[in-house]
Amino acid sequence: MASPFLVPVWDLPIRLFHWSLAASVAVAAASGFLGGAETLRWHVGAGLIAVGLVIARIVWGFTGSTHARFRDFAPRLSDVVEHVHPGSPRHLGHNPLGALMVFALIGLMLVIGVSGLALLGGMFKTGPLAFWSFETGRSGREIHEIAAWAVLGLVALHLGGVAVESLRSRENLARAMLTGVKEARPGDPPVREIPARVPLAIFFLLLAGSGLWATNASLAARAPRGMPVAFDPIIRAECSACHMAYHPSLLPAASWRALMAGLPDHFGEDASLDPATAAEIEAWLVAHAAEGADTLPAHVFARVAHEAPFTISESPPWKRLHGDLPDELFQRASIRSRSNCAACHADAESGLFSPFSIHVPKE
Ligand code: HEC
Ligand code: HEC
Repeated sequence: MASPFLVPVWDLPIRLFHWSLAASVAVAAASGFLGGAETLRWHVGAGLIAVGLVIARIVWGFTGSTHARFRDFAPRLSDVVEHVHPGSPRHLGHNPLGALMVFALIGLMLVIGVSGLALLGGMFKTGPLAFWSFETGRSGREIHEIAAWAVLGLVALHLGGVAVESLRSRENLARAMLTGVKEARPGDPPVREIPARVPLAIFFLLLAGSGLWATNASLAARAPRGMPVAFDPIIRAECSACHMAYHPSLLPAASWRALMAGLPDHFGEDASLDPATAAEIEAWLVAHAAEGADTLPAHVFARVAHEAPFTISESPPWKRLHGDLPDELFQRASIRSRSNCAACHADAESGLFSPFSIHVPKE
């Protein structure tokens, strides 16, 4: 038997895109669903790469070779209906159902990217959307999670679809995505070859790439935007003699008033101050209390336990956030106490408590 005549279907950029997207989505999903603060860097990195790949795919959809072009597989309802019937004609490129999958995945990945940046910006005050409110960030998180589950569902459907379609058409579609070629068959519809427009693609890719680079740079920036108020040096001096300085946005105003009223017996210590200094400190703490800040700690610690009105580390949200950490951790010489936030949160004094700044000491 003569060796089959092979036709090129998937150009190299499409294949590179396909498998790199699969890898980056796998890393982003594993770190997002299974990881915590410690895998967040990986999650955000893989997510940015995935979104970058999707943007490149959109560019290639208008500039790539024949079967890469969106107009080669723009799905029409009649095509979809025809395709699910037995004996439907072969599609060298994406079949109508596969095309729906491509568009759904591209759309969802963009939603995931924007909602992820919204959550980083609104909730953690970092990245290009750092000026968004905490509430917007929280909505972003919900959308991000729903879209992530939807992508998992689509990936499962996609794998099933490839398996079914491979059996039905008796050709290994996964291998074609590796080699880029398929066997020509009698009765294949004629294909009008479209050459890739490489210079145009490179132009748009550079444009998109610089946008991504800027996004990454703004996420990696050391001082996030929209920070709560910087520490007043006098107050830092007075209130960090025995422990780290607690940022005023970590407790509501009522808690600061109660704390300042009880300085002579402050956690078993005498932390008394002269009345003028005490009044000045109290005014500053109250002015910058949790109610007036839009950060994650300000939102979570705004409600404190009644029996411990100003012990942040006794509050239910604090216990919930740190519930996974074993008791012995807090006895380590480098940490000593739950109250020593700065041992694990490098940015504790800023009041921000970014998940990117958590480093639990090893010893
Ligand atoms: C004489 C030492 C001393 C001084 C001065 C002092 N504190 Fe404290 N503070 C303590 C001790 C001890 C604790 C109990 C937690 C610990 O072991 O670190 C504590 C706990 C706290 C907590 C609760 C921490 C948690 O675990 O949630 C806050 C808030 C606090 N201090 C605020 C202040 C403020 C505001 C000032 C300045 C007006 C101040 N402290 C000055 C000794 C001091
Ligand atoms: C022993 C180390 C350690 C200490 C001490 C500690 N934390 Fe944390 N904290 C962590 C870790 C680890 C996480 C992330 C948990 C996770 O994976 O979601 C965390 C999460 C948080 C978060 C959630 C926000 C985020 O970035 O994910 C806040 C807010 C927070 N801590 C505040 C505090 C405050 C306030 C104190 C001091 C009263 C404190 N922590 C003390 C280790 C610590």
